Amino acid sequence: MANGSARKSSLKPSSRKSFLLPSSVIIIVGIILALTYQSILKPPPPKLCGSPGNPPITAPRIKLRDGRHLAYKEHGLPREKANHKIVFIHGSDSCRHDAVFATLLSPVRSYKFLELSDPDPNRTPKSMVLDIEELADQLSLGSRFYVIGKSMGGQAAWGCLKYIPHRLAGVTLVAPVVNYYWRNLPLNVSTQGFKLQQKRDQWAVRVAHYAPWLIYWWNTQNWFPGSSVANRDGGILSQPDKDIILNMGSSRKPHLAEVRQQGIHESINRDMIVGFGNWEFDPIDLENPFLNKEGSVHLWQGDEDMLVPVTLQRYIAHKLPWLHYHEVPGSGHFFPFAKGVVDEIVKTALMQSIN
Ligand SMILES: *[C@@H]1O[C@H](CO)[C@@H](O)[C@H](O)[C@H]1NC(C)=O
Repeated sequence: MANGSARKSSLKPSSRKSFLLPSSVIIIVGIILALTYQSILKPPPPKLCGSPGNPPITAPRIKLRDGRHLAYKEHGLPREKANHKIVFIHGSDSCRHDAVFATLLSPVRSYKFLELSDPDPNRTPKSMVLDIEELADQLSLGSRFYVIGKSMGGQAAWGCLKYIPHRLAGVTLVAPVVNYYWRNLPLNVSTQGFKLQQKRDQWAVRVAHYAPWLIYWWNTQNWFPGSSVANRDGGILSQPDKDIILNMGSSRKPHLAEVRQQGIHESINRDMIVGFGNWEFDPIDLENPFLNKEGSVHLWQGDEDMLVPVTLQRYIAHKLPWLHYHEVPGSGHFFPFAKGVVDEIVKTALMQSIN
């Protein structure tokens, strides 16, 4: 008995000590982490357009359900005269002026997340769809309209098929970004596509998915290469893309500064966080929204796209037999900028109603 109680009392202080030590360490480490987060990792707040000291508002905007403003640009015929109304959703690191899809065929509303729209820290594929529907209604685009989503704009285009199929006249996805974390992509297929990416982009995608709180620092530090898109490093692109960019010359220059005027986090990183995050749905689960052939869905993809692996697109096309898949040989991610391609894409999208 005496032995036992002696053993007990001799154990107590040391067990208390071993309890105290780690908790104080945890608190200190916690404080250091919090300070680090505040000073290094936390992105500065986005520069709200139109407020003092921030970029001016130079485009029409609509007011959305939660008070945010959404900027847009109209191209083509005045909307009262147009037979076909298309909402074009541009990709990452672009803006409303990049409406390469503005052809004479149809007016295009270029939908703008970045640049002049108010930031949406709670953005998801679904919230983008609600934004688009509100834009269409406030601009009186009618009960059904076309949607074209390019690259990161694919998030919203897939979302439209999921959430507002009854509002769609047709959908076209142009080199839409594939989320390696969609549930229905078999591991071997998504891994194969993932490995085709540069190491720096593999890491940036992992960080965007698993540690989005780290992505601001990741894409702005100079110790190692962050995302190639965030760093505007065209070195990874295929030759057809390099040729197209060379041909474009300085035509994008006047508005290039506007694209990131709210800061890299809202303009670029947010796309990655949403695009490679956990989606509320999986496009591979989608069902044909046009059972009566009153519209059609098209997906265009270059087979030399270094940003979006063609193998993943082929898998999706194979799983969604109602989707019309157009693979463009010898083309990279920027093939719509090649002469005549946009006309073909838009004509194909409208074919149903032209015939
Ligand atoms: C993935 O695995 C399936 C089933 O084992 C196989 O049929 C398919 O060819 C594989 N795909 C790739 C890209 O490895």
